[in-house]
Amino acid sequence: MLRKGSIRIAIAGLGNCASALIQGIYYYTPERCRDGVVGLMHREIGGYLPCDISVVAAFDVDARKVGTDVSRAIFAKPNCTKVFQPDIPEMGVVVKMGPVLDGISEHMADYAEDRTFVRSDAQELTKEEIVAELKRSGAEVLLNYMPVGSEKAARFYAECALEAGVAFVNNMPVFIASDKAFADRFKARNLPIIGDDIKSQLGATITHRVLTDLFAKRGVKLLRTYQLNTGGNTDFLNMKNQQRLASKKTSKTEAVQAVAKKRIEDENIHVGPSDYVPWQNDNKLCFIRMEGHLFGDVPMDLELRLSVEDSPNSAGVVIDMIRCCKLALENGIGGVLEGPSAYFCKHPAVQYTDDDAYQMTESFIRTSTVKLAVR
Ligand SMILES: NC(=O)c1ccc[n+]([C@@H]2O[C@H](COP(=O)([O-])OP(=O)(O)OC[C@H]3O[C@@H](n4cnc5c(N)ncnc54)[C@H](O)[C@@H]3O)[C@@H](O)[C@H]2O)c1
Repeated sequence: MLRKGSIRIAIAGLGNCASALIQGIYYYTPERCRDGVVGLMHREIGGYLPCDISVVAAFDVDARKVGTDVSRAIFAKPNCTKVFQPDIPEMGVVVKMGPVLDGISEHMADYAEDRTFVRSDAQELTKEEIVAELKRSGAEVLLNYMPVGSEKAARFYAECALEAGVAFVNNMPVFIASDKAFADRFKARNLPIIGDDIKSQLGATITHRVLTDLFAKRGVKLLRTYQLNTGGNTDFLNMKNQQRLASKKTSKTEAVQAVAKKRIEDENIHVGPSDYVPWQNDNKLCFIRMEGHLFGDVPMDLELRLSVEDSPNSAGVVIDMIRCCKLALENGIGGVLEGPSAYFCKHPAVQYTDDDAYQMTESFIRTSTVKLAVR
């Protein structure tokens, strides 16, 4: 497959997830992408390898990141994800100060600076300036990595994408792709959008969904379940503020409910972030319990513990979302990309089983690539 050039991305929020993604862009060199490559769902999509992605603009609000080259900002505190690619060349892309809006939770002030966001005192860019920066940089896709609960900030960046004419990947649980009004506006502008809220490569959600689907397919009635998650990164610290949690709980819970044979009563399902354990850093632990009845109405139960590095787990999915957006742009496809949203995200506009969403995504990639090839 011939490589076709680069995909220019802009990033809002240079936290742990963005760090893992950018490390991956430099880790997956053409040599590493040879057959047998480890850790990718697709080595190439539409002729693009991960290393064909380049960051052309970035926005944050943290004093240790704003004004710094992206190559250094991704390793600045409070980021704490595993460094698997330390060698990132200077990019010549300086992180710009976005508007803080509701990006920083008040309770963060109670923690040590190395653990929390520290607001930069640089002048905030206006919406017009951010749109201008997106246009000037030639960005094609904007990734939204705002902290959970940043309703205003997330919508702000979606508006900027619409105005600048760039595709949008919504990695977090403020409902944008699954909000009909927003989705219609992306469709009207013929801009692709994938969302909402990344479903990690092999994380708690996909595991819980696959097991829930298994119960349904094997005729086992699922009576009760929980999914408890602990971690020590800023995502978990931010989610200690219960008032910011509503959309994350909805996103994670509905992802499981959507594949249950019969909707589980609210009091019998508990899914969500559970506690902040600083020494875990970016290591996330997930504990799942499922109780059901099988043949003869006889009880059974299942307990599972999953341990993953949270941010590379998300980057393994975002690396494909970006390339799907590019494929849509090349094919003139706008609006919500239904298959990729269902396969890559926890809270798509329409939920499908992961098997169906996988088939839809593969078909999208295949047909879009073929259409391009025959032009
Ligand atoms: N596996 C995963 O890690 C995973 C999975 C699904 C969803 N997500 C979601 O992705 C989002 C990002 O996760 P993360 O782990 O990178 O978080 P993080 O806390 O490491 O990073 C958030 C970044 O946003 C910046 N920020 C805060 N307010 C801002 C504003 N107004 N404008 C610009 N930047 C701002 C912070 O300074 C920080 O750099 C979270 O909402 C998280 O829930 C993560």
